[in-house]
Amino acid sequence: MRDEIDSREVEQAKDLLSMAGAMIILTGAGISADSGLATFRGADGLWRNYRAQELATPEAFAEDPRLVWEWYGIRREAAASCEPNMAHLALARLASERDGVTIVTQNVDGLHTRAAEMVALERSTAEAARMERPEVDGTARLPLELHGCLFRVRCTQCGERYGHREPINADSVATLPACRSCASLLRPDIVWFGESLGAAIEIAFGRAQEADLCLVVGTSAVVQPAASIAMVVRQAGGKIVEVNPEPTPLTSVAAVSLRGGAAELVPSLVS
Ligand code: OAD
Repeated sequence: MRDEIDSREVEQAKDLLSMAGAMIILTGAGISADSGLATFRGADGLWRNYRAQELATPEAFAEDPRLVWEWYGIRREAAASCEPNMAHLALARLASERDGVTIVTQNVDGLHTRAAEMVALERSTAEAARMERPEVDGTARLPLELHGCLFRVRCTQCGERYGHREPINADSVATLPACRSCASLLRPDIVWFGESLGAAIEIAFGRAQEADLCLVVGTSAVVQPAASIAMVVRQAGGKIVEVNPEPTPLTSVAAVSLRGGAAELVPSLVS
């Protein structure tokens, strides 16, 4: 009986997705759980370790940049050792094939971006083979990363931001990453507690106003303002479809809420 209900709900969600014009996809740590990365609030979640949450602040960085970099170095290594899963790839394909699809993620693991790059490569290789033009370049539709990215840095002095994938040497303050322009201390380009989200959230709210549907995948939907993106879509007359093994504060307002893992469910919704 349960399977029957699930498959009917999956069909209903598929219909909503295929009928939607503009669509916003809001993701959280749960989408990367199937790639092997810890979530924040689960049983083995990162925030279960109280000290971890204390490290994600500008005050902690000012006090002990070495310790904060050491922790982000460990998280960077964990993310670098994971691969985008079927959910990241299915969403990247959807965004590259359909107009009006915006992926907005709270994740800092870079896996949506890697999936977008993989899909762009797939498409450019297929295109190049078809057109016998090996130089054809695929364009990646990159996600909006609301909370920043582990693989980007920002200069504490001149403010320059750029991609940075090298391992972190946190032996001492002197070995920490330094700015390529002014040699000052770099910091992870992450939005820490107490900091504002910048332009990405404004863009996301703008897209939410226009969207017919918000697909919410793998977020506990308790962190603002990210969680309210789905509510903006709903208040503007759009629908919410949720994928999560557990209920969340959005479940009661979702048109369909599917109980299950992202890598299993998302590809079947967007194929
Ligand atoms: P959470 O750890 O709060 O929530 C993860 C969600 O993923 C939970 O609702 C789980 O039920 C769900 N989940 C677990 N496994 C899943 C799977 N295989 N497929 C789908 N869903 C699954 O993580 P977020 O909601 O992303 O912010 O947390 C939001 C923000 O809180 C983070 O970006 C971070 C944190 O403070 C910053 O660091 C600024």
